[in-house]
Amino acid sequence: MKSLRILTLLIIPLFMLSCNKDKNNPGYDYMGSHDMYYTKFYKAYSENPILRDSMTNQLPAEGAVPRGHMPFPFAGKTIADRAVNQTLAGMQLVNPMAGNTSQMEKGKKLYEVFCLVCHGDQGKGDGHLYTSGLFPAKPMSLVENYVKSKPDGEIYYVITMGSISGLMGPHGSQITPEERWLIVNYIRTLAQ
Ligand code: HEC
Repeated sequence: MKSLRILTLLIIPLFMLSCNKDKNNPGYDYMGSHDMYYTKFYKAYSENPILRDSMTNQLPAEGAVPRGHMPFPFAGKTIADRAVNQTLAGMQLVNPMAGNTSQMEKGKKLYEVFCLVCHGDQGKGDGHLYTSGLFPAKPMSLVENYVKSKPDGEIYYVITMGSISGLMGPHGSQITPEERWLIVNYIRTLAQ
């Protein structure tokens, strides 16, 4: 009984010692100096003594693809490259929004922002920029067989990279991949 009392008397000050007025100071702790309790961390851009290339921020593994991202290995420098790549894109890219009609309004709006001025509201290639004489090249009709018969991936390619001749510029930096597919879907409704 006596020893229990002594033990209690010893434990109470121990508990009190473990408290600290400074909220950022954890006070005494068991094995506090070990990494297992307090992980050492390195700032993103600081040198790192542990990793082989000394970089804290590591590059993604080669060939890694971000979630939800569709690879686009079709860029090409020469006209010949691009002609081949446009065809390849048509064969290999799968429209992830195919048959998705719920976002047609969004596709229409995007078309109106990015394409209408040249291709016209009905896609006939008679947009104001061309009919007013401000743009010298005739924009392709999007409702005739030539474009109508192209697979979705080819139109996606043209939006991303521009036309092979370069008369139509690339829109890849302005329009997100998902939005490009929505535009493709909208063009299909014009060409019905
Ligand atoms: C500045 C004017 C302009 C804008 C903006 C424009 N286009 Fe074009 N587009 C053209 C011209 C000109 C051609 C014909 C190019 C050629 O013959 O190389 C063309 C051709 C095309 C073709 C056929 C390409 C082929 O394979 O021959 C498609 C498809 C197309 N445009 C879709 C679009 C879409 C979709 C948008 C909107 C994201 C758009 N264009 C925006 C001018 C434009």
